[in-house]
Amino acid sequence: MEGTVCVVTGANSGIGKETARELSRRGATVVMTARNQERGEAAATEVRTSTGSDRVELLMLDLADLDSVRAAAAELKQRHDRLDVLINNAGLVLTRRTTTPQGHESTFGINHLGPFLFTRLLEEPLAAAAPARVVNLSSMGHRLSGGLNFDDLQWEQRSFSGVSVYNDSKLCNVLFTKELARRWADRGITAYAVHPGIVRSGFGGDGDAPGWFGTMIAMTKVFYLSPQRGSRTSVKCATADLESLVSGGYYAHSRRMRASGKGKNAETAARLWDVSEQLVGLAS
Ligand SMILES: NC(=O)c1ccc[n+]([C@@H]2O[C@H](COP(=O)([O-])OP(=O)(O)OC[C@H]3O[C@@H](n4cnc5c(N)ncnc54)[C@H](OP(=O)(O)O)[C@@H]3O)[C@@H](O)[C@H]2O)c1
Repeated sequence: MEGTVCVVTGANSGIGKETARELSRRGATVVMTARNQERGEAAATEVRTSTGSDRVELLMLDLADLDSVRAAAAELKQRHDRLDVLINNAGLVLTRRTTTPQGHESTFGINHLGPFLFTRLLEEPLAAAAPARVVNLSSMGHRLSGGLNFDDLQWEQRSFSGVSVYNDSKLCNVLFTKELARRWADRGITAYAVHPGIVRSGFGGDGDAPGWFGTMIAMTKVFYLSPQRGSRTSVKCATADLESLVSGGYYAHSRRMRASGKGKNAETAARLWDVSEQLVGLAS
């Protein structure tokens, strides 16, 4: 990975931190993003120390706030004119319905709209590094989504279920990956969706996870994969020979798996792209 520039979002903790560490260990310049300066600096220092790399950068990015997404993308483009790998890793599950500064439901905003806008704004530096890759952290939870309801994408009309909203957002990640692969193929940019495994990380911590789901995580955590093991599929999609990967594909346990039927629907993927463009203000 010497000479490459890789960005990992949500890199101050869990799978993202281990992904950043491994890419650093392999010689990449790694830009770790965090929404909290202190947590971000602590993680970047830890990665620099453990890998001996002096090419570890920190970038502030709050995916909930589309102004922050725009500012971070602009700052990144100032620092680097090429970007070999973007790993949209940050994500969360929430107990209650809250909204972002732009008024979007927060899980949908943070897990889908923020990464959607961030990626779109980075098209030029990615194309400049072609062949470049985008890796989107999804989840096997996408299989449990009942499907996107375009009349109520942000759960305003239905009673809020944190887990269902999370599963929908992870379906968005699979669909976005598929559409991105299709639309950006001629720019030399490939895309992969990843389920990292069930990983012992900060995910669902701090009382963020909805009731029974949070209790289940707390009780079974001891059996989960380490964050280092959980980073393997992301690292594989970011580094393996392109010939061994299928752009637009869904990966888990370091190999290609079938996404759910809903995750393969080309019409829904195209519709989500168009609706997302409207919501983030990219549509002309
Ligand atoms: N753990 C699992 O079993 C599991 C399973 C399937 C999929 N995943 C996916 O894997 C990804 C990584 O999760 P993880 O398990 O490593 O959890 P984690 O340890 O909680 O890490 C999540 C990261 O996302 C960041 N983040 C949260 N909200 C953000 C926002 N508004 N703006 C920017 N960054 C934000 C967090 O920052 P803070 O530290 O500031 O909160 C943290 O750095 C997520 O997309 C998750 O959905 C995880």
